Amino acid sequence: MCGIVAYVGARTAHDVVLDGLRRLEYRGYDSAGIAVLDGGSVDVRRKAGALGNLEAVLEAEPLAGSTTGIGHTRWATHGAPTDGNAHPHVDCRRALAVVHNGVIENHSALRDELTNVGHVFGSQTDTEVVAHLLEEELDGPPGGEGQAAQHSSSRTPEEFAEAMRRVCRRLAGSFSLVAIHRDFPGVVVGARRNSPLVVGRGDGEAFLASDVAAFIAATRQAVEVGQDCVVLLTPQRLEITDFEGNPTRGREYRVDWDASAAEKGGYDYFMLKEIAEQPDAVAATLLGRLGRDGTLTLDESRLDTRVFVEVDKIVVVACGTAYHAGLIAKYAIEHWAGLPCEVELASEFRYRDPILDRQSLVIAISQSGETLDTLMAVQHAKEMGARVLAICNTLGATIPRESDAVLYTRAGPEIGVAATKSFLTQLVAVYLVALYLAQLRGTKYGDEVAGVVRELAAMPSKVAAVLDTMEPVRAIARELARVPTVLFIGRHVGYPVALEGALKLKELAYMHAEGFAAGELKHGPIALIEEGVPVVVVMPPPSGRSVLHAKLLANLQEIRARGARTIVVAEEGDEAVRPYSDHLVAIPAVPTLLQPLVSVVPLQVFACELAVARGNDVDRPRNLAKSVTVE
Ligand code: AGP
Repeated sequence: MCGIVAYVGARTAHDVVLDGLRRLEYRGYDSAGIAVLDGGSVDVRRKAGALGNLEAVLEAEPLAGSTTGIGHTRWATHGAPTDGNAHPHVDCRRALAVVHNGVIENHSALRDELTNVGHVFGSQTDTEVVAHLLEEELDGPPGGEGQAAQHSSSRTPEEFAEAMRRVCRRLAGSFSLVAIHRDFPGVVVGARRNSPLVVGRGDGEAFLASDVAAFIAATRQAVEVGQDCVVLLTPQRLEITDFEGNPTRGREYRVDWDASAAEKGGYDYFMLKEIAEQPDAVAATLLGRLGRDGTLTLDESRLDTRVFVEVDKIVVVACGTAYHAGLIAKYAIEHWAGLPCEVELASEFRYRDPILDRQSLVIAISQSGETLDTLMAVQHAKEMGARVLAICNTLGATIPRESDAVLYTRAGPEIGVAATKSFLTQLVAVYLVALYLAQLRGTKYGDEVAGVVRELAAMPSKVAAVLDTMEPVRAIARELARVPTVLFIGRHVGYPVALEGALKLKELAYMHAEGFAAGELKHGPIALIEEGVPVVVVMPPPSGRSVLHAKLLANLQEIRARGARTIVVAEEGDEAVRPYSDHLVAIPAVPTLLQPLVSVVPLQVFACELAVARGNDVDRPRNLAKSVTVE
């Protein structure tokens, strides 16, 4: 949710940090700030609103030239998005500055304790308690003898790191923290629990950030910071310990995409680029996982094959679009692997008492790998004794780290807040898991698995074919730009697709949209149908479970008879629907279970075009952020 960037090196810190913050803007924020070390104190500039507001302040009151700095883009959780609540936050002496991503759950009690010994708070944020706790650890209470202790350069960076460890041991909740202090020039100290933090190591310079996008223009050498760890960073030194001070190491990796990948590549919006990247994203996620002999290899998931053989229950936990991928996973797992599969909203699951044990496999689906609801669900599942497999698009993210195993999707960076290519790659991943279960448990013969594998291998070209025929869909979207509502219906795997189409329209066009299981129409929703109400109908293949097609055709006739304006997404050649379709969107013929890979694409394009026609910024929809790292 919030963006963190810290820099130590030879360049002017505030320039480097500001550039990093620009690259994190997509994360969603409502204020921003930068702090640098300025000899005997810290120099801070903060401003509510867009980064441009901060840049104007920096223009009017330039920061001191320094080579040590931290910056932050804030998405408000405690305290309104005001200048005073913007990060970085400082202590009473203005000797240090700290930025934070997450929620300090025990901040009230800590604030009371600190206030009682004389600390004065300048904000309503939970974060500011960290600044004063660090002050207590490094310089003592304000007004104490430490007050007299002016800038001292004889202190060691280890003191700073130890102070951070002591503070972290007192914090409850989720946090990635980064701090600088006047007595430790050229040193940045960080810490993380449940929120993302990654080190970038350059040539004579180093970064700490919430996302590699902040520093990949300078370096692609990254080091992941593990759970409950503290980092001491200088241009030449990287030391990571746990909160008790025991040395540990972060996994080093090379960021496999460069700065340009995170640019728009000629499209008006990241979302448009990411919709267009879907064939490649699907192909990349399949790469190396489809054996030549038609078998599957998921050994990189690090989950012992015995787990897949012994499992007797699957529970999928996720949020938003990832939850819709989970709903589709259910059909595939039950049909191919013959296993019971429940799908739960992570925010509900974590407060239930699910019946789980060592034979349960929980699959946590998350593009960002930082969604706090899903992370808490993972921790809840593990407490219940279940094994957890993460399906994630972000290397080294918290959810995969907290899981027993991970299957990475390879959609590449998804900058647009609305999930598109990450959704298709999540579908590919759940299909692979379902097939892998079937292969290991023998619920499908090798040749049957090979058949589906061949179908999967053909999907990138099928998705590309859909993308080539989207102009009529854009035209429909522009025609409907001012309608008050759009309904979506589907059956079987088409039902989660209908839900996903509605979610896209809600989050991008800020309008009412709702998805229904078509079979539910007669139980109430059909009362919504009147002259001109647009309804998107996701038709199953006529050649699949034919009963599905016949049932949905009947639903289509029912709503058309009541005046609905029908936008029908159907397999090319499906002539049965034509008489009832005001708009017919043809998609390639694919097997029933795989159809979401092609049927969701017109719904993505429809929502995006309609939102653009309404003048909305589809990359940064209001009130939303790319990664929801708060509850
Ligand atoms: C979907 O377009 C939204 N961006 C949102 O629903 C998202 O899918 C949800 O917040 C889950 O995010 P995650 O996949 O990063 O966990």
